[in-house]
Amino acid sequence: MAKFISKSENDTKLIAEKLAKKVKPNDFLAFFGGMGMGKTTFTRYFAAALGYKGETSSPTFAIVNEYRGGKLPIFHFDMYRIETFDDLYSTNFFEYCEMGGVVICEWSEIIENVLPENYIKIEISKGEDENTRIFEIEGIDL
Ligand SMILES: Nc1ncnc2c1ncn2[C@@H]1O[C@H](COP(=O)(O)OP(=O)(O)OP(=O)(O)O)[C@@H](O)[C@H]1O
Ligand SMILES: [Mg+2]
Repeated sequence: MAKFISKSENDTKLIAEKLAKKVKPNDFLAFFGGMGMGKTTFTRYFAAALGYKGETSSPTFAIVNEYRGGKLPIFHFDMYRIETFDDLYSTNFFEYCEMGGVVICEWSEIIENVLPENYIKIEISKGEDENTRIFEIEGIDL
């Protein structure tokens, strides 16, 4: 397990860049951690680090956004509004997991029982002040 303390968005960018150097096709990044922890912010920097040039946005309503054109495609899920297995199934989640891209999953807590094997766990928690975040990353050597 690797632990990083981020004291700013820029620190979070550096962590995202470190991870982007190591990911490979079909990797699954499972975010854990509550509202406003920085999951979407991390994803924006991660996508840029993989060479994606476009805009990223929170897929809270779309459930999944696709970012293509970088080194690997990124499939960005937000499970916040997923309530049933059928909801999840109808997003093509299981197909996306095997499409050779990197799947990024916000609110993994909600689908914890159907996460793929060998996922990369990114747990974010609050630090001692407003802009501090603690990142605990498991499942990949950084
Ligand atoms: N060290 C930090 N790293 C990342 N974001 C930070 C940091 N400090 C403050 N922030 C701020 O925290 C907010 C994180 O919002 P973001 O939308 O990324 O969170 P989220 O985890 O995706 O939330 P949600 O659960 O609502 O999807 C942003 O406004 C960002 O500027
Ligand atoms: Mg978010």
